[in-house]
Amino acid sequence: MQTSGREILITGGAGGIGMALARRFLDAGNAVTVCGRSPERLAVAAAELPALRTIACDLTDPTSVDAMAQRLEAEAPDLDIVINNAAVNHPLDFHDPDAPRKIREEVDANIMGTINASWRLLPLLERQPEACLAIVTSGIAYAPAMGVPGYSLTKAALNSLARSLRMTLHNTSVQVVEIVPPAVDTDMIRDLRCRKMAPATVAEAVLRGFAKDKSEIRMGQTHLTHILNRMWPRSAELVINGSFH
Ligand SMILES: NC(=O)c1ccc[n+]([C@@H]2O[C@H](COP(=O)([O-])OP(=O)(O)OC[C@H]3O[C@@H](n4cnc5c(N)ncnc54)[C@H](OP(=O)(O)O)[C@@H]3O)[C@@H](O)[C@H]2O)c1
Repeated sequence: MQTSGREILITGGAGGIGMALARRFLDAGNAVTVCGRSPERLAVAAAELPALRTIACDLTDPTSVDAMAQRLEAEAPDLDIVINNAAVNHPLDFHDPDAPRKIREEVDANIMGTINASWRLLPLLERQPEACLAIVTSGIAYAPAMGVPGYSLTKAALNSLARSLRMTLHNTSVQVVEIVPPAVDTDMIRDLRCRKMAPATVAEAVLRGFAKDKSEIRMGQTHLTHILNRMWPRSAELVINGSFH
């Protein structure tokens, strides 16, 4: 896949992995838009990367997603790569009286947010001769982590969604790519003590994976978790949970 001269949307791109992807893809000669809920965070990102286009959007709200799509149709009609990166993660004890609400929030943002954006933007992607719909999952998509039951189930669901959409869209110009990072040093897991990959290293691996036309881009520990999960699923759970002290 060509990795320069593309028109890219990265959801949840005002910080963390999304921002690292935005920086790397801008450096490689692409036009990049990021979206997120917080206008303040988007303004900080735009100040840091002046070439970046930013759009405030809550992916759980179809009206907000529709407004973003209309802006992209007007300002970035050649949109040909969408990276579904936005997510929330609520570590919780399942005895927590607030657990169902927190898990619903994860389902809404991570699963429905990805579905809302992908469904609305697919017609734009399909207009292009070569397009890509990417979904960021996690090593946790292969084996769940204790303490994050809602987040784990959303990532397993997104792994299934990516595989399902890949089959659905195989006769179109849209390639479906799953991006599978290990633990990464961002705000999302700030309080977690474990080995973490730098966001810039994730971005580099994604660019390399795109260039090599990989449909599943794994990096660091997720290579091992993937193999273990296929052969000895219980070991994959131990490896995933061993990194969460
Ligand atoms: N960090 C890790 O260890 C790790 C490991 C594997 C996979 N991942 C995955 O990598 C992706 C990026 O994670 P990260 O670590 O970079 O986390 P992060 O720094 O918390 O970034 C998540 C982004 O998602 C946005 N977001 C959340 N809900 C949204 C919504 N409803 N609408 C629009 N934007 C929304 C947030 O922006 P606003 O708050 O401004 O909306 C934020 O910019 C996620 O899919 C995550 O699951 C992370």
